Amino acid sequence: MTDVGKQGLDFGGRRVLITGASSGIGRAAAIVLSSLGADIVLCGRDEKRLEETLDAMNDGQHIMAPFDLAEDLEGIPDWLKYITGEHGPLNGLVHCAGIESTIPVRQVDPESIENVLRINTKAALLLAKGVCSKKSFRLPCSIVFISSVMAIAGRPARSIYSASKGALNAMARSLAIELARKNIRVNTICPGQVQTEMDEAMRQRMGVKLYEQIVEAHPLGLGKPEDIASSIAFLLSDMSRWITGTSLVVDGGYTAI
Ligand SMILES: NC(=O)c1ccc[n+]([C@@H]2O[C@H](COP(=O)([O-])OP(=O)(O)OC[C@H]3O[C@@H](n4cnc5c(N)ncnc54)[C@H](OP(=O)(O)O)[C@@H]3O)[C@@H](O)[C@H]2O)c1
Repeated sequence: MTDVGKQGLDFGGRRVLITGASSGIGRAAAIVLSSLGADIVLCGRDEKRLEETLDAMNDGQHIMAPFDLAEDLEGIPDWLKYITGEHGPLNGLVHCAGIESTIPVRQVDPESIENVLRINTKAALLLAKGVCSKKSFRLPCSIVFISSVMAIAGRPARSIYSASKGALNAMARSLAIELARKNIRVNTICPGQVQTEMDEAMRQRMGVKLYEQIVEAHPLGLGKPEDIASSIAFLLSDMSRWITGTSLVVDGGYTAI
């Protein structure tokens, strides 16, 4: 068996920082990766919900690191340096923290653009900056940003959200080339509609009819957080060691139509 085959999806002794670990896709990623042996640094704003994630995880040397990434963009690299100084370097970063935005262009203003870009896009780049500093990572190391099918397909009123996710995909390509010399891989995942709190909020806002159209646009139906978590595990693992600078679409067929 090859070395890739032997190591497979074993994350024993590896530490991964997951943002957005208090809910949805980030929570599912924390649970799946802990079941594969990873030690997780859980980031979100809500400590109680981070604890709920921790309770659902397999045992390990996990730590909770509550932090408002949008509030303190400038502080992100130092915060990350502090975390890795206290608990050891990272083998991976998964940026799941994000917010949704459905605003018709006539209502767009600079503040609504900035709010979305801060957490979805700018925080991602500053987290990557923190991870790639000398003592903050160890090999193998892989960065995964959670993007969206809205980075590659359009829908009315999603211009801000699409911009925030399209920028993530573009950013990942350049970072992948820049960080290849350090052997750090950088990729994004573009999920279709996944059943999380974010999706539930959209369903409530849109009403049954419009939401049904979205469901019908997914030939395999809507996704579950675990469907994205398994792709995250793949992109963090040695199984994907020759994959960098790409975007993995995980969308139940949404973009195939
Ligand atoms: N669900 C979907 O259909 C879907 C589809 C495509 C892409 N995505 C993307 O997938 C990612 C996860 O989405 P989800 O559906 O799992 O959403 P979710 O259940 O609403 O979770 C969002 C997470 O982001 C965290 N977060 C938000 N603002 C933050 C901030 N300022 N600082 C730190 N953490 C913050 C939240 O933590 P706290 O509440 O604790 O702060 C929460 O853990 C997002 O980037 C989203 O755009 C989702």
